[in-house]
Amino acid sequence: MAQHWIATDFGGFDVFEFVEVDVAPSKPGEVTIEVRAAGMNPADYKHIAGATDRSILPVSIGYEAAGVITAIGDDTEIASGGGAVGDEVLVFRMQGGYATSCTVLAKNVFAKPANLGFPEAANLLLAATTASEMLHVTKVAEGETIVVHGGSGAVGISVIQQAKLIGARVIVTASESSFSEIERFGGEPVVYGDGLEQRIRELAPEGVDASLDAVGTDEAVAVSLATTPDRQRIVTIAAAPAAKEHGFLIIAGAIPASAAYRDGVRAHLIELAAEGRLVVPVARTLPLADAIEGFRILKDGHPGGKLALIP
Ligand SMILES: NC(=O)c1ccc[n+]([C@@H]2O[C@H](COP(=O)([O-])OP(=O)(O)OC[C@H]3O[C@@H](n4cnc5c(N)ncnc54)[C@H](OP(=O)(O)O)[C@@H]3O)[C@@H](O)[C@H]2O)c1
Repeated sequence: MAQHWIATDFGGFDVFEFVEVDVAPSKPGEVTIEVRAAGMNPADYKHIAGATDRSILPVSIGYEAAGVITAIGDDTEIASGGGAVGDEVLVFRMQGGYATSCTVLAKNVFAKPANLGFPEAANLLLAATTASEMLHVTKVAEGETIVVHGGSGAVGISVIQQAKLIGARVIVTASESSFSEIERFGGEPVVYGDGLEQRIRELAPEGVDASLDAVGTDEAVAVSLATTPDRQRIVTIAAAPAAKEHGFLIIAGAIPASAAYRDGVRAHLIELAAEGRLVVPVARTLPLADAIEGFRILKDGHPGGKLALIP
């Protein structure tokens, strides 16, 4: 038996339950993992708050995890090649990472870089693939100046690091308490709130080439529209209605084109992490049983880094 988190209904935190479950044996093309850390993302509770298709209930929670292979299906290789009982791996994308053990598709399992702890590995890919796609769709290039709204969050910190690898200049909106973390990765922090547009113009008098919105506030949308001449170079991951209204880009893991791009870039991002060129700052680990406390921290909006659940 394993324990895992499910949502039995749609709504707030009271629909989540921590229950016992049988772990399915690994069939060909599948791998069973003892989870050592589950990555936490705001989508874990948000998609339960907003969903309506009751046929998917109960829903297993958690899109990414890291752990150790305990069984592997016949004639099965993991995505990074090979794969054997005892190997340390990370998994993305999946449904049900908030678990002590689970069986997943081998095509979503990669060898864990030895330099990453389980909490870091479990939190690498959802944020990093999203960040990579934001830079890809806005065509950010060497020598350009970009703004990342909500840039001290998990996605934002990954955007900063990947944009610096491209050779872009990165202005980042954040709370003052996050400034040192942003500077550590080569971003130029600016505080959000009244006067943001002016503060960005002072830092970039020649203008901004692209705006990447990882927070979705009205302010981030308005300032992106005011400072970025080309709407095809504005992307949001958190303000879909505004993107539709104003004709700029929205990406999401549930959009097939986004999913295909993100799946295709996973191996490259793991390589960057293995080389120490893409870092995952973990703010805190919590026992797996305390997932709701993790949700509260995420919902509060200032987690200060990634959260991992430890079985
Ligand atoms: N569409 C997609 O594919 C996709 C993928 C991943 C995430 N998301 C969404 O993107 C958002 C960010 O995700 P995440 O994992 O990066 O979140 P996170 O790690 O929880 O970070 C949230 C960040 O938002 C910042 N913030 C809070 N209020 C703000 C404001 N008024 N203005 C500017 N920044 C503010 C915080 O900065 P300070 O602490 O410095 O104040 C914090 O660093 C979430 O809404 C998530 O659901 C979407």
